[in-house]
Amino acid sequence: MKAQPESYSSLVDADQGIVSREVFVNQEVFEQEIARIFARAWLFVGHESLIPNPDDYFVSRMGMDSVILTRDRQGNIHVLLNSCMHRGMKLCRHDQGNARALTCPYHGWSYSTDGQLVETPGELVGVPGLATHYHGQLDKKAWGLVRCPNVVNYKGTIWASWDKEAPPFLDYLGDMKHYLDAALDHRDGREGGSEVFGGVQKWRVKCNWKFAPENFIGDMYHDISHRSVDLVGIGPSVGKGRRDASRRRMTIGFPGLGHGLLGQLPHTAEDDYVPLYTKHPEVEAYFREIHAARVRNLGDRMRVQTSVGTIFPNMSFHGRQPRTIAVFHPISPTEMEMWRFYLVDKDAPQAVKDATRHYYLRYSGPAGMTESDDLENWSYATEASKAPLARQYAYNYQMGLGHAQPIEGLRGAVQSGDVSEENQRIFYSRWADFMAGKSWADLIPG
Ligand code: FES
Ligand code: FE
Repeated sequence: MKAQPESYSSLVDADQGIVSREVFVNQEVFEQEIARIFARAWLFVGHESLIPNPDDYFVSRMGMDSVILTRDRQGNIHVLLNSCMHRGMKLCRHDQGNARALTCPYHGWSYSTDGQLVETPGELVGVPGLATHYHGQLDKKAWGLVRCPNVVNYKGTIWASWDKEAPPFLDYLGDMKHYLDAALDHRDGREGGSEVFGGVQKWRVKCNWKFAPENFIGDMYHDISHRSVDLVGIGPSVGKGRRDASRRRMTIGFPGLGHGLLGQLPHTAEDDYVPLYTKHPEVEAYFREIHAARVRNLGDRMRVQTSVGTIFPNMSFHGRQPRTIAVFHPISPTEMEMWRFYLVDKDAPQAVKDATRHYYLRYSGPAGMTESDDLENWSYATEASKAPLARQYAYNYQMGLGHAQPIEGLRGAVQSGDVSEENQRIFYSRWADFMAGKSWADLIPG
């Protein structure tokens, strides 16, 4: 089947729980995703702790585009397209660094974000041979770097959208905010208390990018994949057996927004704490104390402990210790680049940082034992889906169809049992809305 542009949204039938494989393997569908989703949606581009000082930069991605996240001399954060306006050369070729001006290695044009020097961040300030070769006739103001019009610092995380009409970030997030906060306001609701530590891990996976956010939005069903890891025991406590087997869980989804999470059922007692670091009493005491502070300060709703969640389209996170952020950058229909950011309290004792870092290394990233299970599933599923015959058969997302329940006090949210595909249906329904080119008024109603 060849997907037609006008019918992209019909590749998803969320009501029936059916999603065409073209959504995962088709080049034209992929190009439309870049234009209709990644050029409009709010995207996670980095964390403020990666650029703590003036003139620091961190190279990130928004869809297929390379962007520069940078802090100016006045402390403001900007997102600029990482492409010189002369012949398109990639300006920043290092992953991160510090530069007073962004100077192009090809012919030497340079750009500045210094508010003392320029009115518009990214303005062209230096052109070799301006007086001689250009005869003083180049309009420098017209050739500054392309600047992303919408940039928000939300509790240390930086988000951006290319769409001038995009709604405020908090409207885009809706009440999913409460669960993202679990990862960001880890201590007790104070802002800016976390930092990305140990660098950002980046690697490529031969799979469609959507396999990852649809997994993190609440795919408890795939736990069988991690059975061998659970038997070996790599958790923070180094304990063996099924992870959190005794815990009751549920998925919470936001049908109008495309976000969702897998969480522990609401807690009612302050001491309802999941012991994680039983082999490290000092670390365990730290996390127990923080849990108690959060229960006190953040109220009942936050007592749903987020295990994992997804912000549509391509950012996911672990909401409780150990906390991470993952981003899935589209490269082609059958390849993505995955980035992992590891979060820790800035002022945590060294023993906490060490224990957390060790756990991250065992669990996450291309060499992490749990993460590598998932990477295998996604890449083999993509490979097996792209051949001419196989791609004619849709994927099944029918688990728990019609069994979601509204949640009192939580705007636009529904809950399902711990094992359900409701959240995946919510994700692909949102995907279809964006692919249909709906207006923001329809995407974020009043
Ligand atoms: Fe950048 Fe020519 S491409 S100065
Ligand atoms: Fe997994």
